[in-house]
This record gives sequence, C-alpha cells and structure tokens, in this order.
Amino acid sequence: MGICSPPTLAPDNWRDRMALRCWRWWHWSAWPRTRPPPSGSTQSFRQQFSTQEQTPQICVVGSGPAGFYTAQHLLKHHSRARVDIYEKQLVPFGLVRFGVAPDHPEVKNVINTFTQTARSDRCAFHGNVVVGRDVTVPELQEAYHAVVLSYGAEDHRALEIPGEELPGVFSARAFVGWYNGLPENQELAPDLSCDTAVILGQGNVALDVARILLTPPEHLEKTDITEAALGALRQSRVKTVWIVGRRGPLQVAFTIKVLGPEGEGPGARADGPAPALGRCGRAELPGVEEGEPGRAPGGVGEATRAVPTGDVEDLPCGLVLSSIGYKSRPIDPSVPFDLKLGVIPNTEGRVVDMPGLYCSGWVKRGPTGVITTTMTDSFLTGQMLLQDLKAGLLPSGPRPGYAAIKALLSSRGLGSL
Ligand SMILES: Cc1cc2nc3c(=O)[nH]c(=O)nc-3n(C[C@H](O)[C@H](O)[C@H](O)COP(=O)(O)OP(=O)(O)OC[C@H]3O[C@@H](n4cnc5c(N)ncnc54)[C@H](O)[C@@H]3O)c2cc1C
Ligand SMILES: NC(=O)c1ccc[n+]([C@@H]2O[C@H](COP(=O)([O-])OP(=O)(O)OC[C@H]3O[C@@H](n4cnc5c(N)ncnc54)[C@H](OP(=O)(O)O)[C@@H]3O)[C@@H](O)[C@H]2O)c1
Repeated sequence: MGICSPPTLAPDNWRDRMALRCWRWWHWSAWPRTRPPPSGSTQSFRQQFSTQEQTPQICVVGSGPAGFYTAQHLLKHHSRARVDIYEKQLVPFGLVRFGVAPDHPEVKNVINTFTQTARSDRCAFHGNVVVGRDVTVPELQEAYHAVVLSYGAEDHRALEIPGEELPGVFSARAFVGWYNGLPENQELAPDLSCDTAVILGQGNVALDVARILLTPPEHLEKTDITEAALGALRQSRVKTVWIVGRRGPLQVAFTIKVLGPEGEGPGARADGPAPALGRCGRAELPGVEEGEPGRAPGGVGEATRAVPTGDVEDLPCGLVLSSIGYKSRPIDPSVPFDLKLGVIPNTEGRVVDMPGLYCSGWVKRGPTGVITTTMTDSFLTGQMLLQDLKAGLLPSGPRPGYAAIKALLSSRGLGSL
C-alpha cells in the first residue's frame, strides 16, 4: 500500500496575528514552579490559573504513534485544544513509516487514523524542525501551555565489544532505515555478496531483518520498500541467516507472528550466546554452559541469564547486524534524562519537576512495545495533561503557539514544512 504524503495545513493568519499580540504581554515566568496548588487555596488557585475558558495551545514533539495518539486524545477530549506536532523529518509517522517492515503493510493502516487527526482544523504538522537544535524545549514551553515529548528512540544499543566498528558490521536500526527509506541511512550500502549473515539479538527487529534478507525479492516488489534496497536484494547472495541469542530458544523476545504469514521461519536458525566480533566476517561465539531448555545455569524460564563459559565458536559470515534494541537520547539540556534507563523520568507521563512538560511513547517507557502499547500509554499521558489543565495547573493567559516558533525559526534562517 502507499503511504500518505504529509498533511498540508494552512496557517491561520488571523489566529497567528492574535496569538502574537497576546504573546507580547504574557510571559511564561508567571508559571509557578511547583506542581500542586497550595493546600487550602485550591479554588482561588484554579480561578487564577485555569485555562479552561481559553484555547489551550499544546505542542507535541515527534510524529510517530506516540505523538499522534497523544494528539488524538487531546483533541477528542478537549473541544478547544489546539495541537501543533513538530517533527524532525520532512514526513510524519515515525517508525510506522521508517521501521515497520515493508512486507507488513496491514500494520501501516494506523496511518489512516493519524491522518484523520492531522486533518483536524485544530491540529497542525510542522516537519523539518529538529527540537533541541532548531528550537529549544524552553522556547516551546514559552510558546505553549504544555509540551509533550514523544520523540521515540532514535539510537541503537551498542554491543560494546571489539570489532563493532568493522566494515560489514551494522546496527539493525540502520539496516531497517536503509530498506525503509530513512534519509540518514540511504548511504549504508550493505554488501550482500556473502552467503551468510549473522544477526545478534533475538527480538522482533532481528526477525524482521532476517525475513527481509531471505524473502524472495519478487515478493517485496509490491511493497513500499525503497527501489535501491530492492535492487540490492535482487543481487543478494545471502542464503543463510544465523540469529544469535545470548539466551536459549525459550527466552526469545520475538513473537511468532513476525516469522511470516503462516508462521513458518524465514530460513534462519537461532543459536548460541552473545558473541564477540573477531576480524571482519567472523562472529566468535563464547559458549554458555549447557542446561535443559529454559533451565540454564543463570536461572529458570524468563529469568534465565547467559553465563559466559569461555568456549568460543567461529561462525564465518560476510554481514553482521546487531539487533539488541533501540535507545533514546536526551533532547535538550533543560529536560531531565535517565541515561541508565534511557527514558525521561516521569510519573504517568508528567516529566518530574517540570510542570507543563509531558512525555509519551518509547521515550517515556523505553524502546519496547508495539503500536497498541504505545497507544495506551500515550492516551494516559493525554489524560494526565487534561487533568492538570482542568485543575488549573497549566499557565493561564493566551499563548502564541506556532506563531512565536515560526518567528523564531525564521529569525534563525530556518523554516518548517
Ligand atoms: C524496526 C521496527 C519495526 C516495528 N514493527 C512493528 C510492527 O510491525 N507492529 C507494531 O505494532 N509495532 C512495531 N514496532 C514498534 C512501534 O514502531 C513502536 O511501538 C512505536 O513506533 C513507538 O512510537 P514512538 O512515537 O514512541 O516512536 P517513533 O515511532 O520513533 O516516533 C518518534 C518520532 O519523533 C521524531 N523525532 C525524533 N527526534 C526528534 C526531534 N529532536 N525533534 C522532532 N522530532 C523528533 C522522529 O523522527 C519520529 O518521527 C516496530 C519497531 C521497530 C523499531
Ligand atoms: N512485528 C512486530 O510486532 C514488531 C516488529 C519489530 C519490533 N517490534 C517491537 O519493537 C520493540 C523493539 O524490538 P527489538 O527487537 O529492538 O528489541 P527487544 O524485543 O527488546 O529484543 C532485543 C534482543 O536483544 C537481546 N540483547 C539485548 N542486549 C544484548 C546483549 N548485550 N547481547 C546479546 N543480546 C542482547 C535481547 O536478549 P535478552 O532477552 O537476553 O535481553 C533480545 O533478544 C519490541 O517491543 C518489539 O516487540 C514489534
């Protein structure tokens, strides 16, 4: 199926002009730094700060499932809220466009729902804006009543073993971006002239990548895979894909559905523990002590841990794809970030100690979970934001929204789409 082009949403000049005028006399510094209203003064606090009678201007950063589901919730449950979605790419939909495998077009149907949201006259999409670089989070906070960070996980977890930087060793994230047309990965040029590829990690991304490597190219022709990737796959000589896990087959992270339409495997065998990469073209596999399936020495069932034994096995190959998970990055020095967990510290989507700042999706809970999981958590964030709005915990007075950001961007010689 085709993917919709980005929604074009005409700026409302009258509203922009009004908003700019209001912007001149109201400043963000009026926002109290403490979240809960002082005890005993709830009513007067509400009267003073309630934005219910005005148009809440809300900004969402990121246009993947988290951004769109958060926007959908806000627009549905507040009849006057306006939502501006800022996106670093020229086009919306995040991993639905640049992550979901091309041979799973049915998953991309959520784009129809997102497009409905974008078509609302209270929603606008602004592509080509990198928040944290083109505009800062505090600048967004000044322009909006609330800011929701839904910018996903754009990096990958590194194995941090020798050899990771060798030619022919890539992250699965980059490989996925390559076959899905993510601009930053179009120069990847993986060499597929070998007959064996090794994928490290046994999650759904590993299976997606294995399937794409082994699916006959003619089956991919009707998908939205890029022409360049299809051309390279047509020339591919890869016949064997090893999926290498650090734990056993009972602890795989992938779901059966990703194996293929009938649940049959893509022709890859899963085997062994996490490797160290030797010279290019070999993955050396340190052994684990053998145990009954699901009862390895490091624990039982799900709790099983990989225990290095020192045994090493050489596995000749021409391509190594590391698929051990994605990772979020901090977006702006003003926003707290838990480097260990790779998330913005939050309570049900409220960023800790940052009134008016929220988060949803992978940057809120870590880089796991499918689109429906992301939907549920984004609705929850939307709910928390509306609760705070209703309770008068967001700044009062009109906010300029996009008008102010547009002016800022143009003063920097930048623009949005
Ligand atoms: C390879 C892969 C395949 C998947 N396949 C499936 C599947 O088949 N089915 C399924 O249910 N789930 C699938 N998932 C999971 C699903 O994609 C995620 O649950 C979901 O995309 C997470 O949504 P998100 O909005 O948090 O992140 P994302 O989808 O990553 O969206 C984040 C958005 O923020 C933008 N952004 C990042 N930084 C900035 C910035 N500084 N300024 C502005 N914008 C920014 C990004 O460009 C992106 O558009 C897959 C995941 C991966 C990695
Ligand atoms: N079709 C779909 O529905 C679909 C498709 C793609 C992605 N997704 C979703 O997107 C999310 C991300 O998927 P993902 O595959 O990137 O991540 P994932 O599901 O978290 O899988 C990561 C894999 O890497 C392994 N791993 C982690 N650290 C390792 C290390 N240091 N050495 C060796 N192996 C290591 C993990 O093993 P351990 O278990 O031992 O930690 C696990 O097998 C998941 O929730 C997935 O379900 C869904």
